[in-house]
Amino acid sequence: MTILVTGGAGFIGSNFIFYELEKHPEDRIVCLDKLTYAGNLSTLKNVLDAPNFRFVKADICDRAAVYQLFEEEHPDIVVHFAAESHVDRSIENPGVFLETNIMGTAVLMDACRGYGIKRYHQVSTDEVYGDLPLDRPDLFFTEETPIHTSSPYSSSKAAADLLVQAYHRTYGLPVSISRCSNNYGPYQFPEKLIPLMIANCLADKPLPVYGEGINVRDWLYVEDHCKAIDLIMRKGRVGEVYNIGGHNEMRNIDIVKLIIKELGKSEDLITFVKDRKGHDMRYAIDPAKIHAELGWLPETMFAEGIKKTIRWYLDNKEWWETIISGEYQKYYQEMYGNR
Ligand code: NAD
Ligand code: TYD
Repeated sequence: MTILVTGGAGFIGSNFIFYELEKHPEDRIVCLDKLTYAGNLSTLKNVLDAPNFRFVKADICDRAAVYQLFEEEHPDIVVHFAAESHVDRSIENPGVFLETNIMGTAVLMDACRGYGIKRYHQVSTDEVYGDLPLDRPDLFFTEETPIHTSSPYSSSKAAADLLVQAYHRTYGLPVSISRCSNNYGPYQFPEKLIPLMIANCLADKPLPVYGEGINVRDWLYVEDHCKAIDLIMRKGRVGEVYNIGGHNEMRNIDIVKLIIKELGKSEDLITFVKDRKGHDMRYAIDPAKIHAELGWLPETMFAEGIKKTIRWYLDNKEWWETIISGEYQKYYQEMYGNR
């Protein structure tokens, strides 16, 4: 089979490519990525020369380029990771989120309709459900929870999900959707909470915690997410949504303190900064459906996963130091300078 992976030079997409090449060496992987600020070809350096791997630099919004690739490759499965993915950036500049996350999804699905496909899988997020109150620990997001978004990012992802469901109902496109909680692990761009805190801690820089740091996220090790997507795209039911999460809720402040402890630094580095606009309080996934239908369960517990992740950032300083040395400096100054 030929599997087209969009956004494979980013965090989860690259981990997914490594997982697929290892688990299904009989399949061919074609990665389509625009290489935005969040995509790094160096991430894929170990697989670039593999005989069953091809990298194509293109924008998913570029209809001609996408159709050309389908003409050449006739993929059996499309797994769509490519997106603008950072909430803070979406608050500053929503336009590119609408363009990439909504219009780009439509272009890809049009190509799937035109050329025929066995499965189109949309990688979505639990953020489409909005947030849960902190004082109701009994509540979880199920696949039936209404869409109720907070940020331009989550709204663009929700719009894409609705479009995917519309293409299924209207055109019979064989789709599936997964909605996962927050991921962590190797190759995550250092603008997101965990890698940002690791990088700042190692540089003895302030650790910017939004608001009071009491917001809760449900953290999942990236490889567990990749395993879930692999199962859904091969065995999941067409037209269905599957929630993915590991029942691992943690407050931001506790994550930051854990990283400080692991790195032997001082909690004096913690700096409470102005809260994110519209900041979601709590995300918590009920993964009962994917467990019951596909037997999926998370395999890496947080205590182990966070140690592995910190170790990876220590061992791969060159990867992220290169990233944070360039254009990223300007972003950091704009985002945190006057906060
Ligand atoms: P990321 O920002 O690390 O990577 C995104 C990738 O998409 C980059 O390689 C980038 O170059 C590429 N890209 C962006 N715009 C493009 C375009 N127009 N054309 C082609 N390529 C383009 O993102 P991530 O954290 O790996 O997230 C991947 C997917 O998973 C996203 O769809 C995101 O919404 C979803 N998701 C992420 C999380 C999380 O915790 N990170 C959780 C649930 C769902
Ligand atoms: P993030 O990694 O951006 O993921 P998301 O917003 O998609 O959940 O942020 C995770 C949590 O950490 C979120 O509640 C915002 C908070 N946060 C900080 O407190 N400080 C930071 O510098 C960042 C990037 C995030």
